Amino acid sequence: MNRREMPVASETVRPDPADLGIEALRTHVAGEMQRTRDRSITLTSAVDDDELVEQHSPLMSPLVWDLAHVGSQEEIWLVRDVGGRSAVRPDIDDLYDAFQHARADRPSLPLLGPTEARQYVTTVRDKVLDLLERTPLEGRRLVERAFAFGMIVQHEQQHDETMLATHQLRRGAPVLDDVPPPAAMEADSLPAEVLVPGGPFVMGTSTEPWALDNERPAHEVHVADFCIDTTPVTNGQFLRFIDSGGYDQPRWWSEQGWQYRQHAQLHAPLFWSNEDGTWWRRRFGRVEPVALDEPVVHVCFHEAQAYANWAGKRLPTEQEWEKAARFDPHSGRSLRYPWGQEDPRPEQANLGQRHLRPAPAGAYPAGAAPCGARQLLGDVWEWTASDFLPYPGFAAFPYREYSEVFFGTGHKVLRGGSFGTDAAACRGTFRNWDYPIRRQIFAGFRCARTPGRDELS
Ligand SMILES: [Fe+2]
Repeated sequence: MNRREMPVASETVRPDPADLGIEALRTHVAGEMQRTRDRSITLTSAVDDDELVEQHSPLMSPLVWDLAHVGSQEEIWLVRDVGGRSAVRPDIDDLYDAFQHARADRPSLPLLGPTEARQYVTTVRDKVLDLLERTPLEGRRLVERAFAFGMIVQHEQQHDETMLATHQLRRGAPVLDDVPPPAAMEADSLPAEVLVPGGPFVMGTSTEPWALDNERPAHEVHVADFCIDTTPVTNGQFLRFIDSGGYDQPRWWSEQGWQYRQHAQLHAPLFWSNEDGTWWRRRFGRVEPVALDEPVVHVCFHEAQAYANWAGKRLPTEQEWEKAARFDPHSGRSLRYPWGQEDPRPEQANLGQRHLRPAPAGAYPAGAAPCGARQLLGDVWEWTASDFLPYPGFAAFPYREYSEVFFGTGHKVLRGGSFGTDAAACRGTFRNWDYPIRRQIFAGFRCARTPGRDELS
């Protein structure tokens, strides 16, 4: 077993690609690609080759599939399309096309072995670094402000988070280093919720250079007054729902949610177990008592919705979540991040796999939004009440399969990123989506509610 240091996000502020000159932009892109590849290497060298090709859960691909898939997408988009160069391995395009093969079927494919996969991604990367030096980063939308390179960095980071979820599902001794997150600050004196006054705000973006198509364009949205929890819902709060019989009372669940709760026999968050009245959880190979002050994680949309109903609240809409996270009432503008315009620093958000768990509720005061809510970015993905739908004026770019084919009522939107999400793949406008039954992702939630008239006077 080869234990590796966990990647540590850069302590320096990551520059906004929009602010850089062309040569500085090239340097920035190369740095982001290297930092991302280091994380992929950490995740795939932490286990031996047998475990790399093994399927740890039918919900996930073998880790070696993710690795070669990352290289395949990099080859298709950057080597072939942006660079106009000849294909490296056109014979494996189909094997690593996520739309051709369900995750459960991938272990039975004639995949590249660990050594071959590593050689392949290195060969592709060498070609990409060469063409990064020569490609004009303007004049064609795909390369404007290095968009395609940014898209590939985000894609690899997203697979790194997926691989981290595979590590969580894997059985066996711990192989990843476990650095504790910071403690909560003044958590006891924090209000349970904050009020966000009604009014318009600008949602989405038309200017963020590496924003993906579903985040575009910027558009004005009117949101009525709402209250939103200051922090994500904690394990301690969720335990009260369990202890009061929340999993056994259909009145808290939607019809679809109750059906799923019955079918899947849900009784607690995934990876929890109860022994002699004590709740334990398994976290990356370690079994430990459930930490009461941490945000709950590994709950599906239906569980989040049932809790919110039980608590007399509801899940926030995606519009409410983004307004709480971005709207600055002093300037009337929408910020890139809750704390402002600069990219995330370690003291602002639990991102980038620096820690293998969410920080206690109330941590990261430096990352608070203007409304006072904390931990909107990082820690846990947050389920919203909203279906994944296009914004007005949406245009698929650069391909329909990135977002457009997923729009509709089948997927719910998640916001804010988790401890396993890299800063390059997370911002105030970033939208994630998944099935409402999904539990292996690093997802929790916070609640919202519509205030009564007497509260507003
Ligand atoms: Fe992918």
